[in-house]
Amino acid sequence: MKKVRSNIGYSYWKKANKIIPGGNSILSKRPERYLGKLWPTYYKKAKGCFLWDLQGKKYIDMAQMGIGSAILGYSNDKINFAVKNAIKDGVNTTLNSLEEYNLAKKLLKINKGFGGVKFCRSGGEAMDVAIRIARSFTRKQKIAFSGYHGWFDWYLATNLKNKANLNDHLLEGLSPTGVYNGLKNSIHPFKYDDPDDLIRTIKKNKDIGIVVVESARYNYPNRDFVNTINKICNKRNIILICDEITSGFRINNSGAYKSVGFKPQIVVFGKGLGNGFAISAVVGKSKIMKNSIGSFISSSNWSERLGFVAALSTIDFIQKKKVWKHLNDMGKLISKGWKDIFKELNLNISVSNFYPLVTMKPNYGQFNNVILTYFMQDMLRKGYIVSSSIYLSYAHDKRICLDYLKEARKTFMKISDLIKQNRLKRELRTEIRTDSFQRL
Ligand SMILES: Cc1ncc(COP(=O)(O)O)c(C=O)c1O
Repeated sequence: MKKVRSNIGYSYWKKANKIIPGGNSILSKRPERYLGKLWPTYYKKAKGCFLWDLQGKKYIDMAQMGIGSAILGYSNDKINFAVKNAIKDGVNTTLNSLEEYNLAKKLLKINKGFGGVKFCRSGGEAMDVAIRIARSFTRKQKIAFSGYHGWFDWYLATNLKNKANLNDHLLEGLSPTGVYNGLKNSIHPFKYDDPDDLIRTIKKNKDIGIVVVESARYNYPNRDFVNTINKICNKRNIILICDEITSGFRINNSGAYKSVGFKPQIVVFGKGLGNGFAISAVVGKSKIMKNSIGSFISSSNWSERLGFVAALSTIDFIQKKKVWKHLNDMGKLISKGWKDIFKELNLNISVSNFYPLVTMKPNYGQFNNVILTYFMQDMLRKGYIVSSSIYLSYAHDKRICLDYLKEARKTFMKISDLIKQNRLKRELRTEIRTDSFQRL
């Protein structure tokens, strides 16, 4: 590996690690997942789909966009205007802000057939609240799940039984260290899009009262999977929770569950709901939500005003501009562009078909991360922040996407040549990226 100096942002990261264990509060922003010492790591300013690092260098974000929260683009003028006005009038007082009620009404309007809403700040918190509400309603306590749902004990507990249980659900190698051992048999995984696996899981654990799924992530679920979940939940009085924290607002004006056909009793939103301002929501059927009054669920900052204001403004924007259409059009363009490049260069890289969060997956085993590291390294040099997936936002216009594809093609041409010459790994100027929680 050629020797290069660390980026200044990465030097701060090293210092931060000494006083913030793990460097920050979210795995997905750790530089080791991207380019390690070459990664800008910190930003000074963000607007639309552009980012400026600590030294003022400008990049185009064709990657995570605030881990999916900046659905309209960074620092959107309309949302900022509403939020700034709210700041002037005070954000957390002895009394409640009416925007909380207005947002609840809005969420019930776009989620027909539901009757109650609870608010939190992060996605993981909202999922924890959803599980508590569901548990307090159903007499059966156990959970079957598929997908990623945050860091809370109810979820990580599945790895107490088998430390590989979460490996098929977005993040590998998550450690349940610190999770109460008594939760060991309380939660059981099933594979996404595999109705037989769900049936097996339910048959083996007759006391399952809650099923949790992500409505969509890499691909849309097949009909059989959707129908099986709906049927089993209905027949056995199981509460179905659709986690829309990532999928929400990306394929229609609300949850993806509506388009793919899930019939949930509880739906959970986060991320894009506030376009980067912290707000999440649990939307549930009347009788379940009414019953939740009996369970103590309360937090001072959950009634803070900015999240509600940002969410009202964001939903309004999404509806007026039909933002999901734009996300899908741009994602389709990228998806087709990637597929054409990989075909032309004979590269074995698959592309997902969930367009608003389009994802590529190299099929080269151990070598996958060498390919992705080189891709990020070469694109960064050209001013692009990239990864294996792109959360499209309203700020990514056609020109930006086409320019990105042009540059991505040039980079993949180099990758293809370097693979043929067996030189790709030698061209890396930083550590090979890793998704692993353990190594970080
Ligand atoms: C589907 C899903 N559920 C839950 C979460 C957790 O949300 P947060 O990171 O806001 O706590 C995420 C975050 O990536 C997610 O994608």
